[in-house]
Amino acid sequence: MKKKAVILTGAGISAESGISTFRDSDGLWERYRVEDVATPEAFARNPQMVLDFYNQRRRQLFQARPNEGHRQLVRLEEKYDVRVITQNIDNLHEQAGSSVVLHLHGLLTQARSSVDESLIVDIGSRDIRLGDRAPDGAQLRPHIVWFGEAVPNIEPAVRLCAEADVFVVIGTSMNVYPAAGLIHYVPSAARCYLIDPKAVPVSRPVTVVCQKAGTGVKVVVDELLSLA
Ligand code: APR
Repeated sequence: MKKKAVILTGAGISAESGISTFRDSDGLWERYRVEDVATPEAFARNPQMVLDFYNQRRRQLFQARPNEGHRQLVRLEEKYDVRVITQNIDNLHEQAGSSVVLHLHGLLTQARSSVDESLIVDIGSRDIRLGDRAPDGAQLRPHIVWFGEAVPNIEPAVRLCAEADVFVVIGTSMNVYPAAGLIHYVPSAARCYLIDPKAVPVSRPVTVVCQKAGTGVKVVVDELLSLA
C-alpha cells in the first residue's frame, strides 16, 4: 500500500505563478486592510468593495498557470497517496493535475448564497456583481472563508493529517489558525519538511528546504520518491 503524503500549502506555492502572497513586503495585506475586504462585516458595510477585491483576484487567477512547484507535487503521486490541503483560493493544484485537493479557505471559481452557505454555484472566471442572485434569491458572495468565519473543512483536514506518513509544508507563514495548527495532528513518526525561502517558525522538528517552491519542491519530491 502507498504511504500517505499530506501537503499543506499557502500563498507561497502560487507566488511564482504571479499570484500575490498576503504577508510578504509586497503582499496583499500591505495594499488592503483585512477588515475592509475579507470579513463578513466588510461585506455588510460595503459589498461593492469586497466584490471588487475578489473579482480582481479571480481575474489574476485566470492570467496564471501552475508552476513547477504545483507540477512536482503531481509527480509524487507515482509512489504516494498524496492529499493536498491548501489555504489558497486559486485552483492551480487542480490545474496542475493533483488528484485530491482540500480547500480550507474556499475557491475563487465558486460563489454562494449570502444567506445559505450550503448553496454553492460554479462561476468560473465570471465577476460577481451586486444584484447577482443565488438559487434562494439572496445576493451571491464569493465562496471564501473570511476572517471571523468558521472553517468547515478543518475537520476533514485534521483527519488527513492524523494519518500522514509524510507531511510537507510549502509557502505559508503559518500565521492563520486553524490551518497553522494542523501540524499538531501529524503523528510524531511522520517525516516532515518545510519549503519556504524565509524562516518560518514551527513547533516540531522538520527538514527545512530554504528555497522557493519552484526549485524546493523538486528537492523534496526527489528525496521522497527515492525513499519509497
Ligand atoms: N515559494 C515558496 N514560498 C514562498 C515563495 C515562493 N516562491 N514566495 C513567498 N513564499 C512564502 C513566504 O516566505 C511566506 O512564508 O510564502 C509564505 C506566504 O505567507 P502569507 O502571505 O502569510 O500566506 P499564507 O500563509 O498562505 O496566508 C494564510 O492568510 O489572509 C489569509 O486567507 C488568507 O489563506 C490565506 C491565509
